[in-house]
Amino acid sequence: MKKVHKNIQDWYKTYGRLDLPWRTTTDPYHIYLSEVMLQQTQVKTVLERYYFPFLKKFPTLEALGKSPLDDVLKMWEGLGYYNRAKNLHKTAGMLVVQRQTHGSAPTLPSNIDELIKFPGIGKNTAHAVATFAYKKPVPIMEANVKRILCRVHKLKTPTDKSLWDIAYNMVDKINPFDYNQAMMDIGATICTPKNPQCKVCPLYDICKGKNAPTLYPTKKKRIVPTREENIIISVYNNKLSLTQRTGKFLHALWGFEATEVPLCASEYIGEVTHAYTHFKLICKVYIYDELDKEQAHYFSTSDIQKLAISKVDEKIVKLYLDTMR
Ligand code: ADE
Repeated sequence: MKKVHKNIQDWYKTYGRLDLPWRTTTDPYHIYLSEVMLQQTQVKTVLERYYFPFLKKFPTLEALGKSPLDDVLKMWEGLGYYNRAKNLHKTAGMLVVQRQTHGSAPTLPSNIDELIKFPGIGKNTAHAVATFAYKKPVPIMEANVKRILCRVHKLKTPTDKSLWDIAYNMVDKINPFDYNQAMMDIGATICTPKNPQCKVCPLYDICKGKNAPTLYPTKKKRIVPTREENIIISVYNNKLSLTQRTGKFLHALWGFEATEVPLCASEYIGEVTHAYTHFKLICKVYIYDELDKEQAHYFSTSDIQKLAISKVDEKIVKLYLDTMR
C-alpha cells in the first residue's frame, strides 16, 4: 500500500465520521438519496431533519417511484433546490418502469455511464454511487475534495478535466470507499478553507501547497444580484390564497402570488428576504382583504402547513401571523 493511502486509512479509522448512516449501509438507494440531499446541504441538516423521515415515508426506490410528486416535495420542504427532489422522483419512476419489464425490484445500476443518464445524476453523484454502493475504485469530486487536490498540487485555477485526472491517479484502488469518505472528512475538518491544520494532515508528506495552502485554489469573488418582488396575500374568511407554481422557479411548490404593482386597497405589512445561490430575493408583502375571483385556492394557516411551500413563502406566512397577532 502507498504510504499516503495508509496515512489516510489510519486517519479515517481514528477521526472519520464512521457512523454516518449512509456510510454503514450497502443499500444503493439509501446511498443515492444521501448523495442527492448532500449535494447542496450540510451533513447536520440532512442527518437531523431529512434523511430518516424521507426513508420512513419512501422506504424503497419502488415506493418513491410510485408516490405522487407532491408527497415527495412535502418531505423535501425546507431543503431547497427542489429540482433535486423532482429528479430523484423521476429517476425512481424510470427505474420502476425499467425493472417491471424484468420482473425484479428496481435498483440503481453500478456503471457510471449508465448512472449518468438518469435525471439529476451528474458526474460526481454517479461516481459517489459507484464507489459507495458498489465499491468501484473511482474517485469523487465534492467541494472539499476539490480543495484538497488543488492544495496538494498547487493549482490556482484548475480545469475540471485536470482535477478528475489527478483524482483518478490518486484514488486508493484497494479501499476506495474509506479513501473517498476520508477525503471529504479531511476537507471538512483539516484542509478547511481558512486556517487549515497542515501539521496533522495525513496528506502532509505529498502536499506541495502546504507552505501557503490558502493560496489554492484562487477564490472567486461572487457578486449576487438582488431581485425584488411584490407579494400579495389575498385574505378571505381568514383564509389565504396560494397557487401551485407552474414556472421554472420553485416549480410545483405552492406559494403566494407576485405582482408587478401592488393592488389598490392592499396594505403593506413588511418585507422578507431570502438568499438563494444566484440571487437575493426581497419580497415586499401586501395583504388584500377581499376575495380575489382569479384565485381558486384559499387555505387556513393550518392547512398551509400540509402543502409543500418554499422557505420564502414560509417566512411570508410567519410575517402575516405576526402582523395579525
Ligand atoms: N457529502 C457528499 N457525500 C458525503 C458523504 N458520503 N459523507 C459526508 N458528506 C458528504
